[in-house]
Amino acid sequence: MGYPVTRPRRLRRNALLRDLTAEATLSVKDLIYPIFIDETATKRAPIKSMPGVERLPLDEVEEEADSLEALGIPAVLLFGIPGLKDETGGCAHKGGNVIEAAVKRLKKKRRDLLVITDVCLCEYTTHGHCGPIKGGTVDNDATLDVIAKVAVNHARAGADIVAPSGMMDGMVHAIRSELDFNGLKDTAIMSYAAKYASAMYGPFREAADSGFTGFDRSSYQMDPRNSDEAMREVALDLDEGADIVMVKPALSYLDVVYRVKHEFRAPVAAYNVSGEYAMIKAAAANGWLDEKKAAMEALISMKRAGADMLITYFAKDIATLIK
Ligand code: PBG
Ligand code: ZN
Repeated sequence: MGYPVTRPRRLRRNALLRDLTAEATLSVKDLIYPIFIDETATKRAPIKSMPGVERLPLDEVEEEADSLEALGIPAVLLFGIPGLKDETGGCAHKGGNVIEAAVKRLKKKRRDLLVITDVCLCEYTTHGHCGPIKGGTVDNDATLDVIAKVAVNHARAGADIVAPSGMMDGMVHAIRSELDFNGLKDTAIMSYAAKYASAMYGPFREAADSGFTGFDRSSYQMDPRNSDEAMREVALDLDEGADIVMVKPALSYLDVVYRVKHEFRAPVAAYNVSGEYAMIKAAAANGWLDEKKAAMEALISMKRAGADMLITYFAKDIATLIK
């Protein structure tokens, strides 16, 4: 009887051997934690569909940052829930909104924490779409003018990175030129370059109060059937000056993460979105799977696929776990 010459199991015999030969790694330094700041809230409020995640009042932002810093988490992604909404989302750029206030608080003292701001209008429009509506869809070019101003306001408040998420054509160019025109050349852009029209954003819409009405987002977000198109979106955004490109959601789109990394060799972020978080939380709450193991497995799969950084609601748990 012949023996196998090569025995892959040799390197799986114990944890030291497995660690020594591990290919992908997950570090606290890869993690970005999303925070929801509610302009009108006076205390923290749980988000039902995202157990463990809360909406914060402005007054809690610094305390939250202190605890994230203590965990070694290097970055936050801020979403604002304004007190007032309107038809066009114009309130997003009428200086002094909730996100600018939050950024200023975070930048009051020196911190080891990067501040990234979501730049989109859906939390600011009454209809919940990512810009003003014309002819049954979002008016692309009218939206560009507004988000460019929003990005400048965030950058002036001190944001390190602005992250346009509305999937408008030309959004990176519009923002880059407005930032540069205003002398904000060092503010980086993390573009939601390949953002799919996904069912996985459900819980986020409760969290950010951005449920939309009338029509869905498939006239501006990407069709889940496509990945060549994602390469074209990424190419455009890099051309327009994006510093980091994002794929969103992450888990059903690991092939896209892989292609972006291998075809462009640019910094890639994967957004482990609210529905992906909620699925694991809900199954774990039922005792159907081990939450920590499932979360680790999901996140390492994104790193293995080629993501450099992970935006995840699990950031705190994972940081505690791998510290
Ligand atoms: C809105 C935005 C969404 C998310 C981030 N920014 C929702 C959407 O496009 O409907 C989703 C994040 C998540 O689900 O965790 N521009
Ligand atoms: Zn939006």
